[in-house]
Amino acid sequence: PDGFAVTITINGEPRSLTIPPSTTLLDLLRERLDLTGAKKGCDQGQCGACTVLVNGRRVNSCLQLAVMNDGAEVTTIEGLGQPGSLHPLQEAFVAHDAFQCGYCTPGQICSAVGMMSEGHAKTEPEIRELMSGNLCRCGAYSNIVDAIEDVMG
Ligand code: FES
Repeated sequence: PDGFAVTITINGEPRSLTIPPSTTLLDLLRERLDLTGAKKGCDQGQCGACTVLVNGRRVNSCLQLAVMNDGAEVTTIEGLGQPGSLHPLQEAFVAHDAFQCGYCTPGQICSAVGMMSEGHAKTEPEIRELMSGNLCRCGAYSNIVDAIEDVMG
């Protein structure tokens, strides 16, 4: 396709891609690379379902143009665990039933990974505040917080 030539490392694998300038990072991941873990909830930065990590920081991938990420490292939910073993937050979400329908879960987990590396959340109210960009329409919030607290120790 027409577009800009960029190289983005996605889940540890460098990818050389030609990307139309209007393509969002979310659409690149889902529509072109078949990485459908990140979800399109609102497509306007309000729900967090599309959260991925860019250079270790959480971003709403629906709000980023893919070409902005030339040279970046992008990690999606598919890249969080190692083959055959889940990431500790994935384990904790399972252990605490931290979902009902599961649609928001990849974004919740990527956001929680980013939040933990930011290092600002120490208490439950702080976790709730710093995870407030990730909506859960099933209302599984208390179990989500329990799962995160479990991993934070
Ligand atoms: Fe990106 Fe809702 S789909 S924030």
